[in-house]
Amino acid sequence: MPAKILISRTIPPEAIALARAGATVDLHPGPQPLPKPELVARLRDKEGLICLITDTIDAEVLQGAPRLKVVSNVAVGYNNIDVAAATARGIVVTNTPDVLTETTADFAWALLMAAARRLVEADQYVRAGKFTQWEMMLLIGADAHGKTLGILGFGRIGRAMARRARGFGMRILYNDALRADPATERELGAMFVDKATLLKESDFVTLHTPLLPDTRHLIGAAELKMMKRTAFLINAARGPIVNEAQLVEALREGRIAGAGLDVYEDEPKVHPGLLSLPNVVLAPHIASASHDTRIKMGTLAVENCLAVLAGKRPPTPVNLEVPQKKQGPARPSAARPAARGGRAAPRRGRPPRSGPPRKHR
Ligand code: GLV
Repeated sequence: MPAKILISRTIPPEAIALARAGATVDLHPGPQPLPKPELVARLRDKEGLICLITDTIDAEVLQGAPRLKVVSNVAVGYNNIDVAAATARGIVVTNTPDVLTETTADFAWALLMAAARRLVEADQYVRAGKFTQWEMMLLIGADAHGKTLGILGFGRIGRAMARRARGFGMRILYNDALRADPATERELGAMFVDKATLLKESDFVTLHTPLLPDTRHLIGAAELKMMKRTAFLINAARGPIVNEAQLVEALREGRIAGAGLDVYEDEPKVHPGLLSLPNVVLAPHIASASHDTRIKMGTLAVENCLAVLAGKRPPTPVNLEVPQKKQGPARPSAARPAARGGRAAPRRGRPPRSGPPRKHR
């Protein structure tokens, strides 16, 4: 009998078709996440769950799903899942790293350029019929080329930002819990500095850390104060990395020049102060939303789910220790890093992670 899986919300049809070819699929097609009681009820007889970042998969949900073997997140970040609780129950958690790295960096770069060159203001100006003549001093913005980019979080996506910055002739600073190896630093032309130096010297600060207890409010009033008045903050990682109320104040008071945001502290709510500020470009958490990449994310999530249900090692597991319990010997040497979603190389000297969620983009 094919395994039963729940797909908690619409994913690309290619991925749904793949899931249907390998399992009996219960698909919630609605635009809203399933309310928790319904999620629990529909999970009761399921062996697999394919879910999105809008689904909170906590200990209570997992406890209500006695047959569940795999939680497959269609995202690189998995701060929506209680990985420790899943691991304790022998449930494999998977995510979708790599396939979205370049697309996400493209979008973060688009936010950077749009904020620096006032693209949204310019668009609104033209649509409002205000473009009646060319003007020398109209909508003057900031250059990106030749400036300094500060990358906080030097995983896969952070490094993809560095590659883009090289093309713009930028000086590249980065900070991360773990320093990259010298060859990577050389290849990307990136210099490791402490956070304060990065904040003080960068013209653009771009965030690519996962959301962890110690990255929550990594950027608040004190950090914003360290930034140049002419600098821009870009966040396409997770909203709570920035103290949104303090960012609003800094933008209002001109303590920094502007921001480009794809993510918010309490999504889908956006701090009302942001909505009225002209010097911030806002997007609805769409950094990985290209046609091709969303298909790849959906497909990888289905492959992860079906692999676990077939007793195989999933392509991109998060809790590497579970396969040892449930699926025979894991192969740590061949394993991808216990993904700091976005991290390009295993953290040397650290065992694969177990316990609470620590990593995402
Ligand atoms: C999206 O935010 C993701 O983590 O993939």
